[in-house]
Amino acid sequence: MTTEIKKPQPLNEAVIWDTEKTIVSKTDVFGTIEYANETFVEVSGYQEFELVGQPHNIVRHPDMPQIVFKVMWENIKAGRKFHGIVKNLSKSGKFYWVITDFDYVVDENAIITKYIARRKAVPQGVIDKVENLYKKLLQIEEVRGIEGSEKFLTGYLEELGLTYVQLITKLMVDDAQEQAEKEEEELQQQTAESMEEMRSGFFNRFFNNKLNFF
Ligand SMILES: Cc1cc2nc3c(=O)[nH]c(=O)nc-3n(C[C@H](O)[C@H](O)[C@H](O)COP(=O)(O)O)c2cc1C
Repeated sequence: MTTEIKKPQPLNEAVIWDTEKTIVSKTDVFGTIEYANETFVEVSGYQEFELVGQPHNIVRHPDMPQIVFKVMWENIKAGRKFHGIVKNLSKSGKFYWVITDFDYVVDENAIITKYIARRKAVPQGVIDKVENLYKKLLQIEEVRGIEGSEKFLTGYLEELGLTYVQLITKLMVDDAQEQAEKEEEELQQQTAESMEEMRSGFFNRFFNNKLNFF
């Protein structure tokens, strides 16, 4: 028997967590949680015994459009490589954004028997872009249902010439490149500043010494 867990009231506040860590969960083919690692317990705010045996929608956030989960299930049921970005709801009502990677356990007939999801934190620049898209999808869904949001998402992706996974990949790769460029600029700035320090230090000493000399 599974006991219904009461859904918390969502707060407009992010969970503070060690974003170097990986959240791991393992489910059966229906998405019932069979294993939760320590980080999942910490970040979700639920205890292990509250997570195990529950459907994975225990952390579903109402801001998430249903169409994203439809795309997710279509991909994972087919055993494809899938990366999704999801806003999750912790027990406290605070949210946390994650990017997911899936692995599959298969039987001797190559039939999927378990799903393993690994999740990492998402850079803020990527969240901002995804959040915009998800807000539109949710609005459409509220009025036109999942058929409406599916049509919109299909059209949006066709326009970009990408699949959902390719879009997510592009957002992550572009953001990583932007970060690398920023770091390079900062390094150049620092180099310019330390060259200036070196110049002034050297010539101050050099000319002062010369002055003393004469
Ligand atoms: C391995 C695995 C991990 C999942 N992780 C999440 C998750 O982190 N957040 C989430 O909302 N749904 C997750 N889901 C999807 C849920 O099972 C569910 O489809 C989703 O929350 C939508 O729930 P609903 O159809 O009751 O609205 C996961 C499913 C699987 C199989």
